[in-house]
Amino acid sequence: MPGGATLQAGDIRHVWDVFFLAAIGVAGIVYILIFWCLIRYRRRNNRLPPQFHGHSLVETVCTVAALLIVAGLFALSYAAEVRIEREGSTPAARVVVTGFQWSWRFEYRGGPTVTGTPQHPPVLVVPAGRTVHLEITSADVDHAFFVPEFLFKRDAIPGLTSGFDLLVRQPGVYRGVCAEFCGLDHAAMNFTVSAVTPEAYEQWLRETP
Ligand code: CUA
Repeated sequence: MPGGATLQAGDIRHVWDVFFLAAIGVAGIVYILIFWCLIRYRRRNNRLPPQFHGHSLVETVCTVAALLIVAGLFALSYAAEVRIEREGSTPAARVVVTGFQWSWRFEYRGGPTVTGTPQHPPVLVVPAGRTVHLEITSADVDHAFFVPEFLFKRDAIPGLTSGFDLLVRQPGVYRGVCAEFCGLDHAAMNFTVSAVTPEAYEQWLRETP
């Protein structure tokens, strides 16, 4: 599983890890109990085994344990979401991201606009190591902005704008896709996030109309 290329992805990855370990723990207990019952209480003769109904202690422990696990995972997810959704006051760039059938438009506030086509997917250039604020919306139908290596996906919904911060830790090229089926050329609705050094980013801003 990828570690996540953004600062925000660290929190997301941590939530995934804890869910995964919790699932392994629960599955381990369940399988041990199943196989213990299969072996310990396997049929040895033709007599009917003792018949009883209910066991208050076991039922109470199981219910309370399940509630505690769910409450713990909820609290963990909620705390991570609050951190991920927190927006910095001074982002290095603000970009309006608009999905449309079938590509993306990146409008840098006070800067250039990059519009893609299915044949020529656009590139979202961002400064690495700096916070970038994105505002996602759609011009027609639902799309979804998804960069697998950021462990992050956000719907682009017409009539709504949804803002979030991203900080890409290292310079690099990250593949992005539309992750909501949106019509014939949905599969061609790709884009690239190119994280470059802040100096290269400033130069790109100056050279891009
Ligand atoms: Cu846009 Cu799928």
